[in-house]
Amino acid sequence: MNNNFRLLLSLVTLLLVLLISGFSFILVNQHITTKEKEEQRWEWCGTPDPQYDSPLYAKGEALFKAKCASCHNKNMKADMTGPALGGVLERWNGDTTKLYSYIRNWAVYTKTTNDPYAIELENWDPSVMQVFPELTDEDIDAILSYINNTYMY
Ligand code: HEC
Repeated sequence: MNNNFRLLLSLVTLLLVLLISGFSFILVNQHITTKEKEEQRWEWCGTPDPQYDSPLYAKGEALFKAKCASCHNKNMKADMTGPALGGVLERWNGDTTKLYSYIRNWAVYTKTTNDPYAIELENWDPSVMQVFPELTDEDIDAILSYINNTYMY
């Protein structure tokens, strides 16, 4: 083997090694980011996938825009007259019974339960929330689905 050929061979080997390590770096990196995304999705212990096309989401969107959006920001992240609703179920420790009663009638809920969190909420803003006795559990499920999907994705 002459020297030129040897030099070429080692250059090609070096190039291959660089290529392979570069690729594996990209692969590992991608794996980590998808894994992290997956974990973030599961932080809210509900449906993990976006539901933009589901009937529940569409119903929730319509209800939210008609009844809630005048006081609660549609991006679910910034406060308006009412607090941002993103992550609301966690703030109620996943207790839908309490949260749903609060949404239907916060005043009755707060007076009858003396829930310290609801009392704390009363001081959030001098303005008060409307009452929505007409909302069924399915209506509120839909609203929460809309809230969570808008907040997460
Ligand atoms: C007239 C304004 C107004 C409307 C309309 C309104 N809210 Fe509110 N909401 C508030 C205010 C203000 C608060 C904060 C509590 C307080 O100051 O009484 C609040 C608080 C809340 C909370 C508690 C937030 C938390 O972080 O625990 C939830 C849940 C909520 N609203 C859901 C809704 C839903 C769902 C609708 C629509 C069906 C709605 N609100 C419509 C004004 C409103």
